[in-house]
Amino acid sequence: MTTVFAQAPAGSDLKSIPKSDRNGVLEVLRMRRDPFAYAKARQGELGKIYGMNAFGIDLVTCAGPAAAEQILMNKDKAFANGPAWSYFIGPFFNRGVMLLDFDEHRHHRHILQQAFTPKALTGYFDEMQPLIAERVANFPTGRVKLFQEFKELTLDMALEVFLGVELPTAEADKLNRAFIETVRAGVAYVRKPVPGGRWWKGLRSRQVLEEFFYANIDAKRATQTPDLFSVLCHAESDEGHTFTDEDVVNHMIFVLMAAHDTSTITMTQMAYRMAKNIPWQDKARAQAFEFGENLAYDDLGKLDVLDKIMKESLRMCPPVPAQPRMAVKDTEVQGFFIPEGTLVSVPQMANHRDAQCYTHPDTFDPGRFDADRAEDKSHRFAWTPFGGGVHKCIGLYFGQMEIKTILHHLLRGYEWTVPSDYEVPMDYSALPVPKDKLPVALQRLR
Ligand code: HEM
Repeated sequence: MTTVFAQAPAGSDLKSIPKSDRNGVLEVLRMRRDPFAYAKARQGELGKIYGMNAFGIDLVTCAGPAAAEQILMNKDKAFANGPAWSYFIGPFFNRGVMLLDFDEHRHHRHILQQAFTPKALTGYFDEMQPLIAERVANFPTGRVKLFQEFKELTLDMALEVFLGVELPTAEADKLNRAFIETVRAGVAYVRKPVPGGRWWKGLRSRQVLEEFFYANIDAKRATQTPDLFSVLCHAESDEGHTFTDEDVVNHMIFVLMAAHDTSTITMTQMAYRMAKNIPWQDKARAQAFEFGENLAYDDLGKLDVLDKIMKESLRMCPPVPAQPRMAVKDTEVQGFFIPEGTLVSVPQMANHRDAQCYTHPDTFDPGRFDADRAEDKSHRFAWTPFGGGVHKCIGLYFGQMEIKTILHHLLRGYEWTVPSDYEVPMDYSALPVPKDKLPVALQRLR
């Protein structure tokens, strides 16, 4: 049964959005179980733009690259990030750059950009690589849960490269725990500070993080070091604008969150796909051995086999599966009427399987990114793991640098496999993560 989500104004040329009136809770559960089958079924039934009610919230999914372009490019400023993302991560990532809009967002993003220039990235890279080399060389062998290994490695890296502080183990653990609780809180079912609950823990953990950053900010302002925390303290836009202490703290907490799971998920997906497709693992390893053990920053762009594997893994499983936006005025998407106050979603996970853009979209095929096929260019918004428009991921080069460096060292040191009938069981309830943490047979190269 379908109804109408929002009636188009009488006399307008706009269409009304169809809405599924299935039970919202069951719909969300179906979506979490298999987001691809769900998207296919709903699009087959209702078209690319459709409404639903999920846990009491009315939501309009706007599938397809054309709708993604319209919403993310946001030419008539009809959509805002803050009111949409705040619902999911608001109190924990308050005033992070992704939650700011319009002039205020532009102002903050200009300053933040200074932390992601090629010069700053080279500084992070030089800090990062020795740590990666040492940590990967000491990976356990045998049956290893790679997701877990990547997660621990990227957390330690965050302490070193983002915070640039040496902490006693107990304090580092406390900070890591606070960080993990803050991230988890966003997907709490009970969205109230009930003592002991996820939301409550998230708020307390945000406080721990704030206290840490405020306690260290004077020292960071006093000297310049190559870590992100120091870079943000000294960042200045072309117009001479700088961040207040409060801005630095808010942006640090947000960037830590934005960088962490996204990169870990990508590495895990790449390792999984290479375990299932050994010829691609062999090809990537052969290329890794064309370079030295330690990469130069400029080598990153030359690892084209790893690059295609990364792009294909990001296509098949984008770590940020959808981008929410709130309509701040009456508007339209692809000819459908969207009233002010509507929460819309750009489902990039489903868009990346669009058969109009990709041949055999459910098949792992890094060759689709070859210049002579370039399926990702079939539409400007066909491949959008980093989003698009003014909120496009500011850390995309940082992320790729970290991911490729870790995989480069892994490929040179080890080979890994999974049983031929293994399919990774995914948890899609928040960001897509393997329920079993991806156990592989990891062994050192002879
Ligand atoms: C493979 C890794 C990554 C993926 C797939 C990814 C994905 C995304 C996406 C889809 C957005 C846009 C969200 C929206 O428009 O609603 C975004 C924004 C953002 N990302 Fe990333 N990200 C990754 C890594 C990183 C890293 C490593 C950092 C920082 C070092 C970072 C920092 C940010 C920030 C600050 C924003 C907000 C930008 C703004 O609103 O202006 N991300 N990311």
